[in-house]
Amino acid sequence: MRISILTLFPEMFDGFMNTSIIKKARLKELVQMEAVDIREFTDDRHRRVDEYPFGGGQGMIMKCQPVLDCVDSLRTENSRVLLMGPTGRRFDQAMAHELVQEQHLILLCGHYEGLDARIREFVDDEVSIGDYVLTGGEIAAMVISDAVTRLVDGVITEQSHLDESFENGLLEYPQYTRPADYKGHRVPEVLLSGHHEKIRQFRLKESLRLTLRVRPDLLKNRVWTLEEQRLMEEVLQEENVLPDEKTVE
Ligand code: ADE
Repeated sequence: MRISILTLFPEMFDGFMNTSIIKKARLKELVQMEAVDIREFTDDRHRRVDEYPFGGGQGMIMKCQPVLDCVDSLRTENSRVLLMGPTGRRFDQAMAHELVQEQHLILLCGHYEGLDARIREFVDDEVSIGDYVLTGGEIAAMVISDAVTRLVDGVITEQSHLDESFENGLLEYPQYTRPADYKGHRVPEVLLSGHHEKIRQFRLKESLRLTLRVRPDLLKNRVWTLEEQRLMEEVLQEENVLPDEKTVE
């Protein structure tokens, strides 16, 4: 998988690309990642990449020429070009799985309200990472490339994916490490028992509990196994949720 990030601020990606799992994935050549400086593509004598808006108004607008020449220099028939922007389709784990199938992602970091609108006609999709406005698309591009990279085969172990939040429609169960007693706060006893089946059930139940508490919306259209139904009944009783408050029929 190749990820090209097009930005006016490539230096923002130095730390991101050279730290932890992203760095390892690059060194193992599981992903190729590059931050490409849009300014290098301007044909303006003064290296300008933006201009005043037609019709007047505040702020500067990124010009079509450097942005689209930069896109064209990288785009092949196997590229998918995504513009980062708050008016785009909302990014989530399902989209991360969709994007990891692509051979080449081009992530275009614009500046909100500061991009010639015609640029949208040349991209495949606009993607938002959430309902808030960032100063630019760079952090969104990091979010997306991080979430996609960790799904590339070999970047992290398969088992890590199965249990983690959103992969099975639930939030991940809580994890603990030594000491078993931290200032009187004890690790749940079952986790010290070595009883694998009981631990599995405990974790599933705690996943259900956490999802009910924090993200009940995730449970709305769930297809329940018998075991999950039984554990959820227990959780609802323990949490004192009245039958008519149940979101999980
Ligand atoms: N640029 C500005 N805000 C953004 C958002 N929420 N998602 C993606 N790109 C953005």
